[in-house]
Amino acid sequence: MFVSLEGPEGAGKSTVAQTLVAGLRSKGHEVVLTREPGEGDVGSRIRQILLEGEGITSRCELFLFLADRAQHVETVIKPALAEGKVVVCDRYADSTVVYQGYGRGIQVEALRKWNDFATSGLSPDVTLLLDLSPAIGLERLRTKDRLDREPLDFHERVRNGFLQEAARDAKRWVVINADQNPADVAAQCLQTILNRF
Ligand code: TMP
Repeated sequence: MFVSLEGPEGAGKSTVAQTLVAGLRSKGHEVVLTREPGEGDVGSRIRQILLEGEGITSRCELFLFLADRAQHVETVIKPALAEGKVVVCDRYADSTVVYQGYGRGIQVEALRKWNDFATSGLSPDVTLLLDLSPAIGLERLRTKDRLDREPLDFHERVRNGFLQEAARDAKRWVVINADQNPADVAAQCLQTILNRF
């Protein structure tokens, strides 16, 4: 099973991911926890440019996210799925549709095609959306990277974009209120995934 975690900044995805993975392993599943951008040597270098580079244009940003994804799918996600493992990915293709599309204003339908190319059509079986108001999420951050520093209205478009994408495909997406105690959020995520097996 391929699970992706999505959400605006400060929704607690990384913490939830770790609890979720521990819970799945305790039930006997072999799980690979991974993330975008930034897995492996190539990914970590791309991540550094994306989160710390200066003067990056929207199109350059887009293709760096896609380059990271293409490498990640081929070298990490597909091999793990082929071995029968559960893959939990902290952000995936929907982040591109939402951040570069709804956030930056690049045409969403074009982004779906580019994503399709980068992933060879690999889509998650389940996507957990940790939904949170950006005003609350940004407040939670201790340090801010290049994208976190975008103005609040960018983050509002991102949040609304996630909710719109979730509404388009209610079979794949599960929306979870992230404005709760992290243990409760993680427990709901785990239960959702266990119910899907
Ligand atoms: P992170 O904060 O979850 O580590 O993700 C890094 C940032 O990159 C976050 O601000 C979301 C952004 N992002 C995009 O803009 N497009 C993408 O395709 C991905 C995967 C992340």
